[in-house]
Amino acid sequence: MKIKGKHYFTIWYNDKEDNVCIIDQTKLPFSFEIKKLNTYEDGFNAIKSMLVRGAPLIGATAAYSLFLAAKDNEDPDHIIKKIEHIKTARPTAVNLAWATDRIAKSFDRKDIKNSILKECKKICEEDIKISEDIGVEGLKLINSINKDNINILTHCNAGWLATIDWGTATAPIYKARDAGININVWVDETRPRNQGSSLTAYEFQNENINHKIIADNTGGILMQRGMVDICIVGTDRVSKNGDVANKIGTYLKALAAKDNGIPFYVALPSTTYDKKILKGHDIPIEERSDEELKFVTGLDEHDQIKTVNIYPKNSTGLNYGFDITPSDLVTGFITEKGIFKPSELKDVF
Ligand code: MRU
Repeated sequence: MKIKGKHYFTIWYNDKEDNVCIIDQTKLPFSFEIKKLNTYEDGFNAIKSMLVRGAPLIGATAAYSLFLAAKDNEDPDHIIKKIEHIKTARPTAVNLAWATDRIAKSFDRKDIKNSILKECKKICEEDIKISEDIGVEGLKLINSINKDNINILTHCNAGWLATIDWGTATAPIYKARDAGININVWVDETRPRNQGSSLTAYEFQNENINHKIIADNTGGILMQRGMVDICIVGTDRVSKNGDVANKIGTYLKALAAKDNGIPFYVALPSTTYDKKILKGHDIPIEERSDEELKFVTGLDEHDQIKTVNIYPKNSTGLNYGFDITPSDLVTGFITEKGIFKPSELKDVF
């Protein structure tokens, strides 16, 4: 995807300095900053503090963190320890375990550093292809909506910034734009970290996608008024039966969509399907600090970045990062292999 007309991936190997570059997403939308990861700890902290986020990008960053660990020490036991450690950085997105287990299975004990680097590059290349294929499949769906102007609602950021390129929920949107279809995207702000207003809207501005940011509670009335034709969201983990873990608030959108007869689709790369977990109830849900609820960052009247507390001084909050949307609220999954009903997933992947 492009930022100010220049193409970027969200993570890449920097061969000049033998390190890894990421875009620091905590600085967006106010400042576009590239950060270099030099050590395993840099990679771990980038995931934990959400400089990178989004299930596929968390997986790729974890893989590259193991490359950085191997730069420091090529002992296989050291790498195995780091694999177990990095899995603790964030619990919900299964891509983290998927990518690191893949590194564990593939590294060459005689050439650990280079073999891990090779696998990291492969993981990224495959992710780009998966996302683009999701776009191709999702475009068929958007094409089947017989309207001059199609309104799509999305939640959080399942965009380019959450993957290596294209995004999952946004790939069909970019493909629809390329196909000349008139679209408008309702972008949920996505409290508390505002991934919708600060990341998805930032992507859409840079890619000239027609969009409007809405408060998280607005989707319901838009659906009642016929202003949403389809919902497309991403996911951090889908259990075997098709229950969906995604950013907190997704479930409420799915309920409203069901009540209003609006199709609710989940963009699902095969790397996010977890057959080992039978039901959504067993997916670990990340609980984060209530500081994320209390403090809001923005620009003041002099365009200076400021963080302010919006809670009464002694109030505390509860901050679940994700919720579970039961499979019966999901119309279908847009995957790289086609569009499937929840009950069909287990036979496809
Ligand atoms: O907490 P985040 O920002 O990592 O949550 C991201 C989401 O919930 C995305 O929808 C999900 O990871 C899918 S990304 C293609």
